[in-house]
Amino acid sequence: MGYETLLVETRGRVGLITLNRPQALNALNAAVMRDLHEALNAFDADKGVGAIVLTGSEKAFAAGADVKEMQALDFVEGYLGDFLGGWERVADARKPMIAAVSGYALGGGCELAMMCDLIIASETAKFGQPEITLGVIPGMGGSQRLTRAIGKAKAMDLILTGRMMDAAEAERSGLVSRVVAPDRLLEEALGAAEKIASFSLPAAMMAKEAVSRSLELTLAEGLRFERRLFQSLFATEDQKEGMGAFVAKRKAEFKNK
Ligand code: CAA
Repeated sequence: MGYETLLVETRGRVGLITLNRPQALNALNAAVMRDLHEALNAFDADKGVGAIVLTGSEKAFAAGADVKEMQALDFVEGYLGDFLGGWERVADARKPMIAAVSGYALGGGCELAMMCDLIIASETAKFGQPEITLGVIPGMGGSQRLTRAIGKAKAMDLILTGRMMDAAEAERSGLVSRVVAPDRLLEEALGAAEKIASFSLPAAMMAKEAVSRSLELTLAEGLRFERRLFQSLFATEDQKEGMGAFVAKRKAEFKNK
């Protein structure tokens, strides 16, 4: 399958998606969204893929929604077509997904990274929500996901001033889980994805689902949801294998991966 705006490949059990619009610093347009839907649908359906890495170029993960594409949009067109609504498909990916971010992750680029389950950043990464400088506000989740990720004070600072945050500040703030040297970024992200993909796929997918739901549910509902998922995993061969291997002091060989 050829994609207009992405490079898509598998490395072992990891699906690797590289945003590929270098002439526009990977600005996110309708073609990128359409291609990402297709790639994610294919990886979600592929039993040989246990985790996904989404990355960009060294200079830019993505410099935001495509300003040239949207500048002439009017309200009725945007409202009736639910402009940007389709991007939520990325957050709905069922398999664990890592954003490997180098360079600019601005506006929709930052929001796309936040739709992934964790962000691994290069020391060169720069995160920001500069929409205010364009006369608008974040439209792909920035005001919601960034606030949940780094708290109100920092989110307000970034969204109201449009300033950028470097990788060290992003790590301190809890937006990214690891910061690595630029030449180690892909290796680190692929290594983490490979590790995730080596475990039982139902367990990894349910772990993702449980953590994701924690942002939406009350504590009591979330705890009940987690417990039901936990209990349901006792119906899998992999639970027997994982616990059996621990007791027998051998390495687990998960079947559902
Ligand atoms: N949309 C469209 N094109 C973009 C773009 C974007 N978001 N970001 C960069 N480009 C294009 C530039 O127009 C330029 O194209 P041309 O060569 O045809 O002029 C090319 O990519 C290279 O960019 P620059 O020459 O600007 O590169 P730079 O190194 O000087 O600056 C930058 C890099 C600071 C990231 C700068 O490009 C920039 O500020 N980009 C826009 C960032 C932004 O405002 N993003 C938010 C968009 S709105 C949004 O995302 C809404 C939402 O919530 C979904």
